[in-house]
Amino acid sequence: APAVAAPEPSPPAVAAPEARVPQARVPELGASDVTVSEVIADSADGERSIIAFLCRECAYSAADAAGNARTPLPPTIRTIMVPCTGRVSPLHLLAALADGADGIYVAGCLEGQCHYRVGNFHALDRVAFVRRLLESVGVEPERAAMFTMSAADTPRFVATARGMDATISRLPRLPRS
Ligand code: FES
Repeated sequence: APAVAAPEPSPPAVAAPEARVPQARVPELGASDVTVSEVIADSADGERSIIAFLCRECAYSAADAAGNARTPLPPTIRTIMVPCTGRVSPLHLLAALADGADGIYVAGCLEGQCHYRVGNFHALDRVAFVRRLLESVGVEPERAAMFTMSAADTPRFVATARGMDATISRLPRLPRS
């Protein structure tokens, strides 16, 4: 009999941007259920904010370790935990920018290490799509980025957060209509 391919494992869904993001968690707030706009609203008046969508399996662990070690991170960085970067859609990223973020990034498992096999490759494609979209409407594409890292690579998490902060601080505030 012909072999039947095993179904691809699929990570749990993340809510659409207009709904609450059920897996979102903001450690510094101790909140367990927040929306992107609530995360941004927590930023001080006039302060830039950068939303980091972190995969629970790797980047979030690296971020947690940075927090436990009290490693200083730029105050602009606001983290949202997701089950896998493959569940972050272009709409989540665009909604974050539309809701007041000046930059967004997605941080997932190393290539070949995604717990859902290809989630991080989908995320790479989506971030690239968002960058093209931003550019096409005259917005700096470097406002969106994707990084990969292992759960143990706290220095890389810290370096990418600081790098994103440096990039966004060189750009003007994103105009709001
Ligand atoms: Fe980490 Fe998919 S589980 S990117």
